[in-house]
Amino acid sequence: ETKVIEVDPLNIEEEKIKEAAQAIKEDKTVVFPTETVYGLGANGLSENAVKKIFEAKGRPYDNPLILHVSNVKSFLEYTYISYTLLEKIERLLPGPITFVLKKRGIVPDIVTAGKDTIAIRMPAHPVALKLIEYADVPIAAPSANVSGKPSPTMSEHVLKDMFGKVDYIIIGGKVEFGVESTIIDLTQGKIPIILRPGPIPPEKLKEIFGDITIPEFAYGKTEPDYIKSPGMKYRHYAPNTPVILVEHDDANTMVKKVLEEVKNYKNPIVLCLKEHVDYYKKHNINFDTIGSETNYYEFAVKLFEMLRQYDEKVDAMIIEGIEDKGIGIAVMNRLRKASYKIK
Ligand code: TXA
Ligand code: MG
Repeated sequence: ETKVIEVDPLNIEEEKIKEAAQAIKEDKTVVFPTETVYGLGANGLSENAVKKIFEAKGRPYDNPLILHVSNVKSFLEYTYISYTLLEKIERLLPGPITFVLKKRGIVPDIVTAGKDTIAIRMPAHPVALKLIEYADVPIAAPSANVSGKPSPTMSEHVLKDMFGKVDYIIIGGKVEFGVESTIIDLTQGKIPIILRPGPIPPEKLKEIFGDITIPEFAYGKTEPDYIKSPGMKYRHYAPNTPVILVEHDDANTMVKKVLEEVKNYKNPIVLCLKEHVDYYKKHNINFDTIGSETNYYEFAVKLFEMLRQYDEKVDAMIIEGIEDKGIGIAVMNRLRKASYKIK
């Protein structure tokens, strides 16, 4: 039996959050909105509670979770971190970024899949922050999708994936970013490594940390190092319908490549940039716009929504890519992983 609670993030009714927070205290599972994607949470200090997350998602136990906290002090409680480092990461808190740090013994092994490091994040979404505060424990949470599906960015997605599998679902509207948090590893020497690109772009991280390593796999072009990034070995962001990605280029080149691909399918849809709409209209091709050259945030927030919307409705999704810059790196990482063919 799943209880659905609706809240307006701009005018939160405290009583509703308190009820869900009480459920967290009782080792129950609660789906909640964050500024990136919806999360599937439970008491991060309770092995019994965290087990329910893995069960509901069908997630392999060797894929560790992110511990969500509501204040800076919690970083000292659950990780080993120097004050100099804490001062740096504080500049990014709260926000769409996760830090991998050495873990303290109080965090149960089930959260970190037995590793001695922990992924920890302080989300900026008011509902998430209040839920953690009232629960008075950190909340372990992966994205609230069934394992292997695109992360949920809208209430419809969480209801479809999680209704009947969790105790509570808090509906709080559409998310702000639509791609999962940036993950940086701060345990491998002095230079932080980007394990997963996200809304906080490398330029911002360079401002704070100086140097930063962006491995090839962060672009989604090669396989990652599974020891450092255990979750990455599982297929992600993949709809059932084939996704064909056309890498970013000048308009004529991209459109030409798209038109070549269209010929291979009976009922494809082209997910294109606004700037190219006229070409597809002219050729009488089934299309939808996913973003524009001038606003990559819009592309990010529509990405998983589109992948879900057209899944199994067409026989191929042919998607125009964007440049590997800013949040575009995160978008292209997800798209390259979702696509069957890399162009
Ligand atoms: O935006 C987000 O980060 C969302 C919201 C709900 O906070 N959460 C999310 O969680 O995307 P999840 O579980 O879908 O992705 C977390 C990733 C996984 O790939 C996992 O393997 C990795 O973080 N991870 C967790 N702990 C780690 C660790 N100690 N070292 C390296 N990677 C870790
Ligand atoms: Mg996930």
